[in-house]
Amino acid sequence: MSTFDQILGRKVTPLEPALLDAACRQVHSVLIDVGTGQGKFILDAAREEINRLCIGIDAVAENMAASARTARSSPKKGGLPNALFVRAAAERLPGPFAGLADELTVQYPWGSLMRIVSQPAIEHLSSLRALCKPEARLSVLLNYSVFEDRPYLERLGMGDIVDPADNPDLITAYATAGFTVTNRELIHGDPPIRSAWGRHLVRGSARATLMIDAIADPTWQGR
Ligand SMILES: C[S@@+](CC[C@H](N)C(=O)[O-])C[C@H]1O[C@@H](n2cnc3c(N)ncnc32)[C@H](O)[C@@H]1O
Repeated sequence: MSTFDQILGRKVTPLEPALLDAACRQVHSVLIDVGTGQGKFILDAAREEINRLCIGIDAVAENMAASARTARSSPKKGGLPNALFVRAAAERLPGPFAGLADELTVQYPWGSLMRIVSQPAIEHLSSLRALCKPEARLSVLLNYSVFEDRPYLERLGMGDIVDPADNPDLITAYATAGFTVTNRELIHGDPPIRSAWGRHLVRGSARATLMIDAIADPTWQGR
């Protein structure tokens, strides 16, 4: 297993930087979704705009296998040459993706990725910032019910995380990591995108989503 593996269905292969370069040269913009899970959002985004390279990154290859297979099928069968799936841990970014993203998304994360964007963990949030072009847009969606249930959060080993909807230090921490927060808002009802987990967690329930929008600060000096 290398640090950055391309998912080709069940098979994985070390990501070729030359392939990534070539893919970037063929498009107008790049979207990166970290913690992409099953990758349906990436398939939708790639289908919606064929001149955008849509890269789904997740720590678990199996999650992305079916979407990667769909993306690699022939265009007649719904193939999407502008969708790419990569196994990598958020903590090891940016690697070959440095400075590529016009748009960056993190949707309904769990585990260490949830900590990175909700605490936030500045060192690793900076790694996400390093994926971005200056003034790239960041959109984070969090399953807010986790933060309303403190005993559950403690069982996850994250009892130290201050409510990210309220934490006055969150905006300063994002700024230190190179992101200017433009919106922090609780939304109720269906998630605004096709997120398997967003639907599973939020749809038809009283659960809320915390949305954090930010812009990559063009004056950020790096990590
Ligand atoms: C609840 S799923 C959400 C998947 C998808 N974004 C969605 O909305 O349907 C959370 C995903 O985050 C991934 N993840 C958690 N920590 C990660 C990390 N440190 N680096 C990369 N992926 C991570 C998990 O493997 C999992 O697929």
